[in-house]
Amino acid sequence: MNITFIGAGYVGLVSGVMMSHFGHNVTCIDTDIAKIGLLKSGILPIYEPDLDQYMATATARGRLHFASDYASIQFADVVFIAVGTPSNNDGSADISAVKAAIHDIYPIIAQDAVIVIKSTVPPGTCRNINSWVSLQEKRVAIASNPEFLREGCAVIDFLKPNRLIIGTEHESARLALQSIYQSLVVKDIPFVYTDTTTAELIKYASNAFLATKIAFINEMANICEKVDASINQLSAGIGLDYRIGSAFLKVGPGFGGSCFPKDILALSYLAKEHNTDALIINSVISANQNRPTHMLNKISTIFNNDLTGKVFAVLGLAFKDGTDDTRCSPAIEIIKLLTSCDAIVKAYDPACSRSRNLLTDIQILPTVEDACTDANALIIATEWQEFSSLNFDIIFNLLKSPIIIDLRNILDADKLKQQGFSYYSIGRSHAY
Ligand code: UGA
Repeated sequence: MNITFIGAGYVGLVSGVMMSHFGHNVTCIDTDIAKIGLLKSGILPIYEPDLDQYMATATARGRLHFASDYASIQFADVVFIAVGTPSNNDGSADISAVKAAIHDIYPIIAQDAVIVIKSTVPPGTCRNINSWVSLQEKRVAIASNPEFLREGCAVIDFLKPNRLIIGTEHESARLALQSIYQSLVVKDIPFVYTDTTTAELIKYASNAFLATKIAFINEMANICEKVDASINQLSAGIGLDYRIGSAFLKVGPGFGGSCFPKDILALSYLAKEHNTDALIINSVISANQNRPTHMLNKISTIFNNDLTGKVFAVLGLAFKDGTDDTRCSPAIEIIKLLTSCDAIVKAYDPACSRSRNLLTDIQILPTVEDACTDANALIIATEWQEFSSLNFDIIFNLLKSPIIIDLRNILDADKLKQQGFSYYSIGRSHAY
C-alpha cells in the first residue's frame, strides 16, 4: 500500500518507519527542510532506541522516503496526518496544523483515498473535516487512528500494541487500515472498531486515566510520609489486585512530557466547553502542577529552609528515562525552583543536550562525577537505569556532604545507608 505521513515528528516518524517495516511503501513529509535533510542522510532527529536500524533497513529496501513537498500525495492510498496539536493559552488543543495539512493535501489527494488522523485531536474533529473542505466533491474517506506509543519504547509499542483503535464511518477506510496493520491482525492484537468521535475521545481518556493513576499514587506518597508507611510496598500491595494493576503506580516528581500535561488540559477545556464537570481531571491537573513545589519543599526542609549557595548535583533532565525529551519535564521545573531560591545546580543527563537552551543559568556536565564534585547533595530527578548502578563509593568522596535525595525511588536505601549516606526518598517518613 502507498502511504504518506504528513508530519515527521515523533508519531509520524515512528509510525512511518514501522509501517515500511510491515512492507508498505511510505513517504514521510515535513515542512522542516533541515529535518528532512537529516532523515535523507540516514540521521534520526530524535532519540528512540532501535528506530535507526528499522529506518536504515527500510530505506535500503527502497520502501521509505522523505520529502518536504507534497508531490507523493497524488499516489497515496492512505494519508496519515501526524502533525502537532499543542496547547493554546486557554488549554484547548491547537488544531491549526491539522487544518492546514487537510487544506494543503485536499486538492492533490487521489479520488477514493483515505485520510487518517493520527494527531491527538478533540472529539468531533474528524466529523468537522467536511466543513473545512468539500469532501463530497471528491470521494475521500476519513478515519481516526490514535497512537499510544511511549517515547523510549515506541518501537516495541508499535510492534506489540495493547490494542488498535479504528474510528471511521467509511468501510473503505476500515479495510485500508486493516490491511496496513495486517501484520498485527495475524498476531491477534485486539482491534476496537468505533466511530471517529469515540476513537478521538479514547485517546484523551487513556492518557487522562494514566495521569490520574500517577497523581493518585503521588498523593498516597504524601500520606505515607505523614503516617510512617512505605509507598513502594503500598504500590506493590495495591498493584497486585488485577482490578487496579501495577502499571503507572511509580511515585515521582509528577508526570511530564509532551502528551499527558497537554491532553488533560485539553480534556478539561472540552468538558468546560460542553458545560459538564471534570472534577477528577481538574484535580489531577492541579495536583501535578503542585508536585515540583512539593519536591522543592522536601529538599528545602533537609537544608533547614536555606538553599542559598547550596550546590545540587541533579541527575536527569528528561521527563522520563529512555528519551532526550525535556518538554514539561519535572526535572527542569525543580531546577528552576532551586535556582529561584539561589541554589546552584550542576546537572547531568545521559541523553539531553537540547536542555542547554532551556537552562542557561546552570551547568550541564558531561559526567555524573563532574556534577557531583563538591555538591551539597545529589538529587535523582529522572529514573535512568544507569543511575541505580553508579559507583556510590566514588560519589561519597566527591560530594561535600553525603546526602542523596531520590525523587524517583530507584536507589537501594539500605545499601546507601551502609555506605554512610543520608538517603531521602519519596513516600517514606524518614531518612535512612
Ligand atoms: C504517553 C502514553 O503513555 C502513551 O501511550 C501515549 O501514546 C503518549 O503519551 C502520547 O500521547 O503520545 P509518554 O508521554 O511517552 O507516553 O510517557 P509515559 O511513559 O506515559 O510517561 C509520562 C510521564 O509519567 C513521565 O513523566 C513519567 O515519568 C511519568 N510516570 C509514568 C510516573 O511518574 N509514574 C509512572 O508510574 C509512570
